[in-house]
Amino acid sequence: MKIIKADNYSELCRTAAKIIIEKVTHADKINLGLATGSTPIGLYCFLVDDHLRNHTSYHHVKTFNLDEYVGLHPVDRNSYHYYMREHLFHHLDLLPENIYLPNGISLDLDAECEQYESLIVNQGGIELQLLGLGRNGHIGFNEPGTSFQSKTHVVALDNSTRKANSRFFDSIEQVPQHAITMGMETIFSSKEILLLVSGEGKAGALQRLLEGEILEEFPASILKKHPNITVIADNAAIGSNV
Ligand code: F6R
Repeated sequence: MKIIKADNYSELCRTAAKIIIEKVTHADKINLGLATGSTPIGLYCFLVDDHLRNHTSYHHVKTFNLDEYVGLHPVDRNSYHYYMREHLFHHLDLLPENIYLPNGISLDLDAECEQYESLIVNQGGIELQLLGLGRNGHIGFNEPGTSFQSKTHVVALDNSTRKANSRFFDSIEQVPQHAITMGMETIFSSKEILLLVSGEGKAGALQRLLEGEILEEFPASILKKHPNITVIADNAAIGSNV
């Protein structure tokens, strides 16, 4: 695991943006795996700013989001479709037909999961997958205990995750109980992974990732086996780690 230390959140985002822009600029075509949550917001701002200033084009980029809540319509302001449009997609020149997220309002969720998994494979897989880190070690919505062999699937959200995500909703009751997420194997199959860890609230999770055993009880731990992973962490998350 390559670890890049950033002084603060802004530097973390700038560093991650540089890596992504470099790849997008030099590739003929590229599949990016994207995440939502608080951590990538600053990174997306840098990508948008760069697109405006330097005209970095995303015409040849396909995007695949990690996850989506079950039951939220794409226009719902708490859906990940909405989040991605607001923070990134609206502002870049991505072709709409190249943007993929799981459909959380599918009438057949199992079929949706299978299709999403096949879609990623049929499109040639993900070159660079962006990840945030849950305090309990989740990646995507793969909660502790999820099989390392899992593919895209429906999950019942952990109470701690629903509580953490309730900050985006009016109340915890409104946070959906289920989500569709890329599985652990789906994520691990990406050619390259960029894991962003920011803030002292993540210090414990980062420490467990760096020092702990590889266990399904701490999903992110499998990333230590990935051949091409970079962790970018800010000082607050690193604390006395590393
Ligand atoms: C988001 C996702 C989650 C988050 C994680 C960290 O698409 O899949 O795994 O990356 O919950 O969230 P933040 O960045 O809000 O701390």
